[in-house]
Amino acid sequence: MDFRFDIIIHYLPVLFRGTMLTIGVSLVSIIVGSILGLGIGFGKMAPRWYWRWPFHCYINFFRGTPLIVQILIVHFGLIPAIYGSTNALLSAFVALSLNSAAYSAEIFRAGIQSIDQGQQEAALSLGMSKKQAMRFIILPQAIKRMIPAFGNEFIVLVKDSSLMSIVATQELMYWTTTMKGQYLRIWEPYLTAALIYFILTYSLSKLLNVVERRL
Ligand code: ARG
Repeated sequence: MDFRFDIIIHYLPVLFRGTMLTIGVSLVSIIVGSILGLGIGFGKMAPRWYWRWPFHCYINFFRGTPLIVQILIVHFGLIPAIYGSTNALLSAFVALSLNSAAYSAEIFRAGIQSIDQGQQEAALSLGMSKKQAMRFIILPQAIKRMIPAFGNEFIVLVKDSSLMSIVATQELMYWTTTMKGQYLRIWEPYLTAALIYFILTYSLSKLLNVVERRL
């Protein structure tokens, strides 16, 4: 079997552009997703069941259905309804952020609930309000515990953003498929894509280890 390095080299600039979009989309989605997730996580801890219920449904929907189905719903349903026409880049931001928000909400909830009840009691006995106790005592400790989980979430997003290629978001997997179509070769495009994704996720996990050890 001949392995044609020349077509990989020919495609490198395009694959690089796709990789940049993969990183960009994942980064925006983890940021937007965790902001939304914070609200949804708090919503799920509301004192009354009927306040919790919409957040509960949101989380269950996004965790209980395949991401690929969510992407198709967002791309062909939600975005045209709001934006007026389809837009693959917008779909990527929206679908991945909405999906990530559901997982982030659970990370926040688990992180906050993992802090000992005594911390809040101590804060309240010092005269803090419940809000202050959350803001100054509970959240700072909880966030430390959440960092590894958010790192994993980011890695998942980098890999799962490849699903966006089915609606033609021009990220790494999209250009890999284009490369395969142009040269009718299998090993070169897919192994190159696998290697790039691996380099991304492996370096992210190493970075995460360093951050974890610092904390
Ligand atoms: N692979 C899952 C699916 O196809 C999506 C998982 C998304 N996970 C996440 N942590 N954002 O349904």
